[in-house]
Amino acid sequence: MSDMNVPNLTLNDGTEMPQLGLGTWKLEGEETLRVVREAIALGYRHIDTAASYDNEEMIGRAVADAIRAGDVTREELFITSKVRNEDQGAERASRAFQGSLSRLGLDYLDLYLIHWPWPQRGLYAETFAAIAKIQGLGTVQSIGVANFYEETLRELVADTGVTPAVNQVEMHPGFSQAPLRAVHEELGVISEAWSPLGRGILLQNPVIADIADQVGRSSAQVILRWLIQLDVSVVPKTAGELRLRENFDLFDFELSPGQVNQILALDDLRGFGRIFGDPLTYPGEAG
Ligand SMILES: NC(=O)c1ccc[n+]([C@@H]2O[C@H](COP(=O)([O-])OP(=O)(O)OC[C@H]3O[C@@H](n4cnc5c(N)ncnc54)[C@H](OP(=O)(O)O)[C@@H]3O)[C@@H](O)[C@H]2O)c1
Repeated sequence: MSDMNVPNLTLNDGTEMPQLGLGTWKLEGEETLRVVREAIALGYRHIDTAASYDNEEMIGRAVADAIRAGDVTREELFITSKVRNEDQGAERASRAFQGSLSRLGLDYLDLYLIHWPWPQRGLYAETFAAIAKIQGLGTVQSIGVANFYEETLRELVADTGVTPAVNQVEMHPGFSQAPLRAVHEELGVISEAWSPLGRGILLQNPVIADIADQVGRSSAQVILRWLIQLDVSVVPKTAGELRLRENFDLFDFELSPGQVNQILALDDLRGFGRIFGDPLTYPGEAG
């Protein structure tokens, strides 16, 4: 296991965020407790959850256990949660935030995101303004969004006067989101990749496998390292201890510019692109 530290990315509010974190979607029950405890013991400091993952309580227990055991301090951890779609709107979002805080057993969050813009509903600017107010009260350090595309991102900034610190979006080989990453760079928003491994689908890709052979690493490590070198934050999820180690062990090798570009070029091939929900249409018409 590498003893090199995970680098921090500096957010537009001055906060430092560890570039690599643990994704927790689909972690359930006691498994959540075990995986988060193992991850912290291995050195993970950034944990990504959401109200809709229904695992905030277990994550809170794991964090409390780790702090009690002396593995970590609260200040060393970076914990993100998200407003679920049905909790958009000023009042509901404020209550939802308190709910996440209390399920996690924390007195502040490091980052709070709007989970999906849900443009059909038209509440994201109001929701973000409410989250900005919470930030003013000091119970959340940084605020951001997930699944925002250029139009919604620009509109959010124009409407609220606040630029999100982070936009967490689907991003992986074959869907590197180059145009959106350029918008992020222009606005000062950190790009964070969800489903960086394409939920495992991309691990068999021959271009990735070939580069993995060249650098003597696994396909998962090559993909995560590629995103790290694009200055993207990554939050891969795994329930396996060996994979937790593997996904963390990214900081003692480098891809060449040619290898980075070879993976970027997958964007242009047929059959690649977005694999999961499109925020233009998901979660759909407001009821
Ligand atoms: N904002 C959003 O709308 C949004 C949407 C989706 C996800 N997310 C966040 O992003 C995180 C990551 O995305 P994701 O969970 O969808 O997908 P992912 O991290 O790309 O892939 C997770 C899958 O890959 C497997 N895996 C992990 N490491 C591996 C390795 N080294 N070798 C082989 N297989 C490996 C895992 O299986 P095992 O567990 O069996 O190892 C799991 O099935 C989520 O957990 C969540 O925190 C956010």
